[in-house]
Amino acid sequence: MGTFLDLVKSRRSVRTFDGRPVDADLLKQLKDYSETLSNPYNIPITLGFFAAKDYDLSSPVLSGAETYVTAKVAVGANADVAYGYSFQQFLMKAHEQGLGTVWIGGTMPREKFEAAAALASNEVMPCVSPLGYTAKIGVKEALMRKGVKADSRFDFGKLFFKESFDTPLTEAEADEKKICEALEAVRWAPSAVNKQPWRVVVCGDRVHFYEKKDRGYDNGTYDLQKVDVGIGMYNFEEALRTAGVSVGFEIADPGIALPKDTEYIATYILN
Ligand SMILES: Cc1cc2nc3c(=O)[nH]c(=O)nc-3n(C[C@H](O)[C@H](O)[C@H](O)COP(=O)(O)O)c2cc1C
Repeated sequence: MGTFLDLVKSRRSVRTFDGRPVDADLLKQLKDYSETLSNPYNIPITLGFFAAKDYDLSSPVLSGAETYVTAKVAVGANADVAYGYSFQQFLMKAHEQGLGTVWIGGTMPREKFEAAAALASNEVMPCVSPLGYTAKIGVKEALMRKGVKADSRFDFGKLFFKESFDTPLTEAEADEKKICEALEAVRWAPSAVNKQPWRVVVCGDRVHFYEKKDRGYDNGTYDLQKVDVGIGMYNFEEALRTAGVSVGFEIADPGIALPKDTEYIATYILN
């Protein structure tokens, strides 16, 4: 059996499907799983499952998608981070079960999906995903991947630091702390427009997560790049969990000097 990092590396955004709806038994299994999602903030995330034809659901970047999953959350502090964590937990399960998925936060007719999900006035639905059987990658999809360099990620030392943002963390140093694979799982996570906004500073037994903001992702109610950081946090924690390592969690800003447009999010505590 492969590691969680293998599973992370075997995932890619899938935008071309073979036109079959998801098998009913598998869909039932995934619906049951969606009731068990968790996140360190204990904020509930509600998923909904829809046949495209019932609600006229589609996306200009997708073809052959017949089943969709929506995810919504009540507006509040850290809701976007928690959202990224829990929806990633779900989408990795779908990937493990052999389904293709892609986070869609922009390229969809939002009103139709929000109507299908019966979004309440205190809720947001930052993203949806198709669920389906992967077909051969299309020309448009291949070009789109090239446009955002979807097959590559920033170097380890550009994302992860030691004691301060001035000193890159080496893979050997991460290995000594037994978090190298977990950080690799962060590095290979998906993010909106592949911007990879997660940054990590390791200080002794503390692993601090930050968001490096780009312009245009925060709409005042939720921040898509905080969703990205939540995705990275899930990958980090799950890589450790599946390796038998448990970590603590706290929100306690260590007050490290920050580069421009960088915000503290949360801290994991190594045992
Ligand atoms: C929060 C979020 C929102 C995204 N929104 C879209 C979107 O609206 N349309 C789209 O085609 N891809 C979207 N993506 C997919 C990213 O473009 C993709 O994850 C990234 O380019 C890396 O490629 P990979 O997932 O194949 O590794 C989104 C990803 C995330 C995490």
